Amino acid sequence: EIVPVILCGGSGTRLWPRSRAAMPKPFLPLVGDSTLFEATVARCPVSGGFAAPVVVTGSKHLEHVEAQLSGVEGASVIVEPAARNTAAAIALAACRLPEDAVMLVCPSDHHIGRPDVFAEAACRAAELAREGWLVSFGIEATAPETGFGYLKRGEAIEGHDKAFRTAQFVEKPDLERAKSFLADGNYAWNGGIFAFRVGDFMAELAAHRPQIAAKVRESVEKGAEDGHRFHPDPATFAEVESDSVDYAVMENTRRAALVPADMEWSDIGNWQALHEALSRDEQGNSVRGSGHVEMVDCRNVLVDSDGPRVSVIGLENVIVVIDGDDVLVTTVDGVQKVGKLSGAVNQ
Ligand code: GDD
Ligand code: MG
Repeated sequence: EIVPVILCGGSGTRLWPRSRAAMPKPFLPLVGDSTLFEATVARCPVSGGFAAPVVVTGSKHLEHVEAQLSGVEGASVIVEPAARNTAAAIALAACRLPEDAVMLVCPSDHHIGRPDVFAEAACRAAELAREGWLVSFGIEATAPETGFGYLKRGEAIEGHDKAFRTAQFVEKPDLERAKSFLADGNYAWNGGIFAFRVGDFMAELAAHRPQIAAKVRESVEKGAEDGHRFHPDPATFAEVESDSVDYAVMENTRRAALVPADMEWSDIGNWQALHEALSRDEQGNSVRGSGHVEMVDCRNVLVDSDGPRVSVIGLENVIVVIDGDDVLVTTVDGVQKVGKLSGAVNQ
């Protein structure tokens, strides 16, 4: 049995105005009818050999999490009193599980176009984790992105299909290094999905970040159960150092492995990435939202309107988004700057 540990934190600026601090990316139905969070839960069904999910989230997202978890039998929620990044979030779940359990850590900020490939990779990853490997999902790198971790493919691991040692894990390299990794050809992106045996994860965390391991454990020991919710002790958890699992554990461990997973992964990190994940017509145009949209002589245009009628003529490589009183119009090349707009910053 594999225990899905679903991480839900973060804010929403890069997909503003649809994604906002009060309603960030995981909880929006960005691609198709389900939200990224719902799709993450649905990828790990009991019928597929998964245990009931454990969701780790902050109190400000609890309402969305519980609304979107309704109907998922046995699901439980760990409510963080403060955000301390992913090393602590994963450790909270680990401290609540048996040493021998295998956790599948799933961020809820991705779209996966091929859930069948994900399921198959999850099985491979879990088998490796049972043998003590700390396993990442490797995504084929297609651009020198600086917002991702990079995994260098090492030797194949004997006795396993499509499994490799991670010769090097580099979190968020600068552009020069990212370019050299891409040119090298032996590096994959880290998909942010991990398989760990609980005992091995805690041992590695204790070796490389003893403060996080000890304080999180103490916050769980002093924590309080409330039905399907668990509240770590706020005063103790507040003292936990903030660090991501990538820097804290994955860059340092000698037991890192990777499973390649060609599953049409996208982190939908900006409006152009969302545009690419949507189905598009022959001109490359796509439409989201409930508003009526008319496009004439347009190519590669995305229009997303929550109500107002939008008519566009003769534009190419443009994104138009309407959400309440906020309207965003940008070229495809401008999408990286959305998070810095005053509307996104001061939402
Ligand atoms: N519960 C909880 N608490 N969840 C958190 C917290 C926290 O304090 N911080 C982040 N998360 C959640 C996010 O919501 C997201 O689902 C996941 O954990 C990963 O965090 P991000 O902040 O989105 O990380 P990132 O995108 O910068 O980098 C990670 O993901 C990349 C792939 O998208 C790294 O693992 C990279 O190596 C990786 O390439
Ligand atoms: Mg992310």
